[in-house]
Amino acid sequence: MSQTTHARRMSAWLAATVALVVAIGAPAALAHGGGLRDVARRPLIGTAVDMNALANDPTYKAAIEREFNIVTPENVMKWETVEPQQGVTDFSQGDALVRFARANHQLVRGHTLVWHSQLPSWLTSGTFTPAQLRDILRRHIFEEAGHFRGRIYAWDVVNEAFNEDGTLRDTIWLRALGPGYIADAFRWAHQADPHAKLYYNDFNLESIGPKSDAALALVKQLQAQHVPIDGVGFQGHLSIEFPYPDTFGANLQRFAAAGVDVAITEADVRMVLPATPEKLATQATYFANMMRGCVAVRRCVSFTLWGFTDKYSWVPGFFAGEGAATPLDESFQPKPAYFALRDALARRGD
Ligand code: XIL
Repeated sequence: MSQTTHARRMSAWLAATVALVVAIGAPAALAHGGGLRDVARRPLIGTAVDMNALANDPTYKAAIEREFNIVTPENVMKWETVEPQQGVTDFSQGDALVRFARANHQLVRGHTLVWHSQLPSWLTSGTFTPAQLRDILRRHIFEEAGHFRGRIYAWDVVNEAFNEDGTLRDTIWLRALGPGYIADAFRWAHQADPHAKLYYNDFNLESIGPKSDAALALVKQLQAQHVPIDGVGFQGHLSIEFPYPDTFGANLQRFAAAGVDVAITEADVRMVLPATPEKLATQATYFANMMRGCVAVRRCVSFTLWGFTDKYSWVPGFFAGEGAATPLDESFQPKPAYFALRDALARRGD
């Protein structure tokens, strides 16, 4: 058989195989020759990663490799994990995620340097003067951002600093250091890792309203003070019990217009269990709307799911009676939300 005949037969065979796979219902990931990460160049598509599942569940691991090009550690870069005793740091699990991501050509979002939650108990139950707390915070940021220097695409520098009414949340940091702790945290993070994009990140920031107004004012204030802020993360924890936040797209746009990147950082869409076909269809529209909002805004650089399979989602543990919040079910089978996300991503305008 000549080379060309062989090549022709091979391509005929390939075409037939592709047709067959499509006809019998290809696994979702194969329809585009890969996963969500292969559908479009922007936004980057990510997930939070549960390091235990990554180590123990090969199906989970393979799905992350296939579907995503950016990852966020769900817990292992939080303060309680990285400094369990004062002065004793442990970045081993974060390092493992960074290695995994590098091997799979994925970027890493660092989460999170300054937060009021998941703090080590030595910090929350100790007695420290404001000057000591300032020093502890500064040291933490330099240690953690310094440890991962050059390996993190973007840091959630400050997480969840606002109340719903737009006032600053009463935290250990606000109480001891005053509102200037936010600017300080960004300055320190920039010194520790000058190349990382630095984000403010929060929930219920989706709609235009008092909380997002306050976040936008913060961005403008930091910019006016030449504090290095590069982006704002909209967590995107939605529930079909509430109407879709219709102003989300316009809201992303007004932050982008202020000169920062925007990202959807923790998307999930929960429902009261049990899931029904109707609820799953509604969920799919919420995910698609979020993705369309991001796709429409050039500075919306990434869209990260807070878990991609119901097998490991945080939702049932935190919202009693609710769950089914991710695009894949507990057996890693795609729900309508998976296809809705993929279609919204594929219908990019630019
Ligand atoms: C959650 C994790 O998913 C859980 O595993 C953990 O027990 C608590 O924190 N906003 C955030 C995330 O910024 O860090 C939270 O992650 C979910 C809400």
